[in-house]
Amino acid sequence: MNVSFLDACWGKPVKRTPVWLMRQAGRYLPEYMQVRSKCTFLELCKTPELAAEVTIQPVDILGVDAAILFSDILTPVEPMGMKLDFVPGPVFENPVRTMSDVEALKIPDMEQDVPYVLETIKILRRELVNKVPLIGFGGAPFTLACYMVEGKGSKDFSQIKKMMYKAPDIYAALMEKVTAMDMEYLNAQIKAGAEAIQIFDTWGGILSPADYERYVLLYTARLINGLNRTNTPIIHFVKGAGTMLDVVKKAGGDVMGLDWHVSLSEARDRLGSNMAVQGNLDPTVLFGSKEIIEREVKRVLRENDGRPGHIFNLGHGILPTVPPENAIFMVECVHRFSEK
Ligand code: CP3
Repeated sequence: MNVSFLDACWGKPVKRTPVWLMRQAGRYLPEYMQVRSKCTFLELCKTPELAAEVTIQPVDILGVDAAILFSDILTPVEPMGMKLDFVPGPVFENPVRTMSDVEALKIPDMEQDVPYVLETIKILRRELVNKVPLIGFGGAPFTLACYMVEGKGSKDFSQIKKMMYKAPDIYAALMEKVTAMDMEYLNAQIKAGAEAIQIFDTWGGILSPADYERYVLLYTARLINGLNRTNTPIIHFVKGAGTMLDVVKKAGGDVMGLDWHVSLSEARDRLGSNMAVQGNLDPTVLFGSKEIIEREVKRVLRENDGRPGHIFNLGHGILPTVPPENAIFMVECVHRFSEK
């Protein structure tokens, strides 16, 4: 079993820097497209054998040091009573706007309402036993609330911000409910066998540091604090948080995910030696030549400067048009140039 990823999460020294890629299972892989051609994305998420198959594809193809469960952050939101579709971006037919919309949301029974997620994790633990650890994941309460209120992706997030400022009671009631759901969902993943958890706060960075602290921090902190995390490291990734890492750190967690807008060395200095980091190559570097990919991998490794507690990753998800051979080459570079 390759435990370099888990060791790095706990800040222990490793022989070579572990690496995985956010959204490593997906449309850039012909092997994924082949499985996906036979069903919709949601059907794929809900069929444990297929979800497990596409989870393992990048482990074998790229040689990464961790697997991430194939699902979506919005999977547990559907059984709250939200009608979900992917076109390919997520769309909710009935966005949350009023207090009665919030009251109508239910907290799913995870074993009953998302059995396929837990079953996928159990299959994966058997199939990955001599390979790599399995990462479970969920959306941070704020990012989930963004999709639930906007009803889809957004450029300016005016609906959720309007709710935050004009109807703080509705916003708070929604965040309470989403946080409670998230806690049960992630604890169910840990119980089923997830060996680390990543919390994706894709939209946390659309707020000022002051608003992040006022409207988001307490919910993510409560979530992380409520996880059964003694043996399960928590990775907290807030995209766009480079200027407010000190605030985000207060949420807790073992590893801070970093996007590429902050230098890794500066982030490490600011976070201190008791917090591991994950990141932070610009995903578009994978469109570059081998020389560029090698140069940029070396730069990120140099910024970490041999400090324990670094997991190499992209600063956000891999893009669907990246040539797979470039991702394979990136993983080789990380391993080759970090070998002690
Ligand atoms: O990392 C992995 O390989 C695991 C699988 C995974 C998916 N989504 C599969 C997926 C993970 C970890 C996610 C997380 C997720 N989903 C996030 C947070 C991470 C991030 O990228 O910021 C968000 C915001 C979502 C919501 C979501 N789901 C969006 C915006 C989209 C459309 C994006 C796109 O690429 O078109 C999805 C769909 C989705 N989730 C796909 C996959 C493989 C594409 C679906 C398809 O096959 O058509």
